[in-house]
Amino acid sequence: MHTAERVRRIKPSPSTAAAQRVRELKSQGLRILDLTVGEPDFDTPDHVKAAAIAAIEAGETKYTPVNGTPRLRAAITAKLLERHRLSYGDAQITVGGGAKQVIFLALMATLDEGDEVVVPAPYWVSYPDMVRANDGTPVIVDCPEADGFKLTPQGLRSALTDRTRWLVLNTPGNPTGAAYTRGELSALAEVLLEHPHVRVLTDEIYDEIWYDDGAALSLAAVEPRLADRVFLTNGVSKTYAMTGWRIGYGVGPADLVTAVNTLQSQTSSCPSSISQAAAAAALTGPQDFVRETVEVYRARRDTTVKLISETPRLSCATPAGGFYLLVNCKGALGSSTPDGQRIDSDEDFARYLLDSQQVAVIHGAAYGAPGYFRISFATSADVLTEACTRIATACAALS
Ligand SMILES: Cc1ncc(COP(=O)(O)O)c(C=O)c1O
Repeated sequence: MHTAERVRRIKPSPSTAAAQRVRELKSQGLRILDLTVGEPDFDTPDHVKAAAIAAIEAGETKYTPVNGTPRLRAAITAKLLERHRLSYGDAQITVGGGAKQVIFLALMATLDEGDEVVVPAPYWVSYPDMVRANDGTPVIVDCPEADGFKLTPQGLRSALTDRTRWLVLNTPGNPTGAAYTRGELSALAEVLLEHPHVRVLTDEIYDEIWYDDGAALSLAAVEPRLADRVFLTNGVSKTYAMTGWRIGYGVGPADLVTAVNTLQSQTSSCPSSISQAAAAAALTGPQDFVRETVEVYRARRDTTVKLISETPRLSCATPAGGFYLLVNCKGALGSSTPDGQRIDSDEDFARYLLDSQQVAVIHGAAYGAPGYFRISFATSADVLTEACTRIATACAALS
């Protein structure tokens, strides 16, 4: 079978590959402690499920407008107004099958061959391949741990060219949990104001899973002069444990939103009517679920950070948001396992954890962060504690 060049230039997501490997090992009867998962381990709240059932019973089972139901669009507008004082007209909102699809369509709508997209590393695995699939060129900017894994104005400036179409800014970020402060966003905005041809795609999918004071910030709100160049994306997957419902959204310049809608009209026509009813209920209903789950994540984060920090050869920064830790394992590189294998890379280290201790993590190179590995703490405290104990045993056995 012939496959198109655009497919051959991308690869399946490494997190999906890791999940597949965990499933295989489990099917062989092994008990794997799985820290690879990128979704909440909670169930969708009952009132959200009830809204979906009510939608089915009310016959809301047909195509909706391409850009989403008026009810869901109103819920999104209200959230952005309340949270960020950002005001969007109806022509500036699109709803799609997950933030992932919205981001993909925004890139498809704007990239021609050779157009560049600045992607700060560590990055969510999908960005570079989404850019490549749409004929663009990802320009990866390394953001070291010493800079808090965040893009600096100098880093941004050095990556911009006449071909730059987008900067992708994921805050709070996957896999680091790092979030930009007001000052940091303003400093990046100063550079962007000098380059009016560059748009910014902000991915704010983890904005509510937030541990620091105040709230996670949005570039469009911090620098209103950029608001008409920012495409803000978000969704309900992570905040409301709704990954399987597939609802995400994007807001921004009307011309871009129209282009995204045109593509959506020729791909999915619209997202699921039932999931949209559920998402509207999630956004407008009681928010106790969010507060409660964030406290659970916070406790897990604190336990995991403490255990990893006590482990020789490993260290990690404390994330401000999200449910991931990016663990520095450079201290283990160059060492040898008890059966004489050399650990030369984060990938070797992740394999060693899986083979020797049945702990599954994702190696950092998958996120553009060699020398690190990612732990998801969207799993029970018991699993996390046992996994960290086993990781410590694995580290102690290195020589
Ligand atoms: C940074 C980031 N953006 C977007 C997504 C996808 O979200 P959705 O389920 O809305 O497609 C994920 C999911 O892992 C993510 O980590």
